[in-house]
Amino acid sequence: MRMNATYLQQFLSDSARKAKRSEIRELLKLTARPEVISLAGGLPSPETFPLEEIAELVPDMLRRYGAAALQYGPTEGDIGLREELRKLMAEDGLPDLSIDRILVTSASQQGLDLTGRVFLAPGDTVVCGLPSYLGALGAFAASGARMTGIVEDDEGMPPSKLEERLIALRRQGIRPKILYLVPDFQNPSGVTLSLERRLEILSIASEFDLLVLEDSPYRQLRYVGEHVPNMKSLDRDGRVISLFTFSKILFPGLRLGWLVADEEVVSRYVVAKQPVDLCTSALTQLLAREYLKTGRLPAQIERTKDLYREKRRIFLETIEKEIDPSWGVRWTRPEGGLFLWMTLPDGMNARALLDLALKENVAFVCGGAFHCDGSGENTLRLNFSYSGNEQLVEGVRRIARAIENMIRSRSSAEDVLHAEDPAALPVHHGVHSLEQLSWNLGLSEVVE
Ligand SMILES: Cc1ncc(COP(=O)(O)O)c(C=O)c1O
Repeated sequence: MRMNATYLQQFLSDSARKAKRSEIRELLKLTARPEVISLAGGLPSPETFPLEEIAELVPDMLRRYGAAALQYGPTEGDIGLREELRKLMAEDGLPDLSIDRILVTSASQQGLDLTGRVFLAPGDTVVCGLPSYLGALGAFAASGARMTGIVEDDEGMPPSKLEERLIALRRQGIRPKILYLVPDFQNPSGVTLSLERRLEILSIASEFDLLVLEDSPYRQLRYVGEHVPNMKSLDRDGRVISLFTFSKILFPGLRLGWLVADEEVVSRYVVAKQPVDLCTSALTQLLAREYLKTGRLPAQIERTKDLYREKRRIFLETIEKEIDPSWGVRWTRPEGGLFLWMTLPDGMNARALLDLALKENVAFVCGGAFHCDGSGENTLRLNFSYSGNEQLVEGVRRIARAIENMIRSRSSAEDVLHAEDPAALPVHHGVHSLEQLSWNLGLSEVVE
């Protein structure tokens, strides 16, 4: 007998029953066609992967650590790696960190999942940005938490709006536990939270007694502009928990990240991590330890930044050239990271644009996926790290063509509507299913 889906239902947990299957695979099937330029994924460029260095280091590492590299290790992580991470954090504004305040994770996605396990129960509330990284929303939702979203602008989350929302929630007797932020070159918007806002948000978090989860995978990838201190280094009362990762500065196949928090918090995460994976792979930890110890990381980050800086420049210049200002399209100008965020004029639908874009053989992710409240249907995320420079230019040209076609057909449809029935509103076909699709689209997409 083969298990069928209906029979299986009776065995499923509540959360497994509610979890939706990702329809990104359908989009990926389309984007896998060689003629499609995909600006949809969130993948680092394989050109940044230090293949030769890794090939050289692996035998060295195995000789040096022998069986320990193939053994289970402590849940907290390899002590030598944590020592290297301590030095790394000292260079990023945290000079006095003890290694007891560092937990090695199986990349930052695990930090998000563990956050749900440690702090969130069904009905708890998390405050996040509109938009927010979908992999985090998924991790919190798996704990049964509810999300409340604050509309972000070109500098990230406005503290005044955060405060207003917290006051309104307090009136309803709701006390959120966690504020989730991607302060540096956010996925999906590319926006960075200014120092002033970081300080204001931390003071609001103190006033309303919220934990702050700082998730910062792109932090080291700044191409232009001024360095902004990480939120942990501005934390005066131990309420910030920070997640960092090697995924975007070394390679994501390492599946290695680290969490920085006060000792008491770290020890809770250790307990939560034990039943999940016992420990992060010793093999990859020792590899990363050797990579850091031999001083290779700074040059690797510089090489990566040089490559992406150029891609960003080309991408932005082409967008400025190809998108006609009269179309009313807006976009962010990220100073780092992998993504740019585009907002279409009100009433224009990114899902409908994606249909047109796919006909032009270019793909992106619809922004609705990143909105916990189902809004954002006129937004889209564009990735500029993965495609080659020529593809970036051509990809933007095709998207611009799709936007122009959409605007043209919209205005002619409106002309017809006005002519035939002045009271009729333009119908945006499939809006509901757009939300469904874009929600589903996001989850595996963003993790990639
Ligand atoms: C904001 C954010 N957090 C976490 C992750 C997960 O990264 P990883 O688990 O590879 O460290 C990603 C991946 O793209 C991300 O964009």
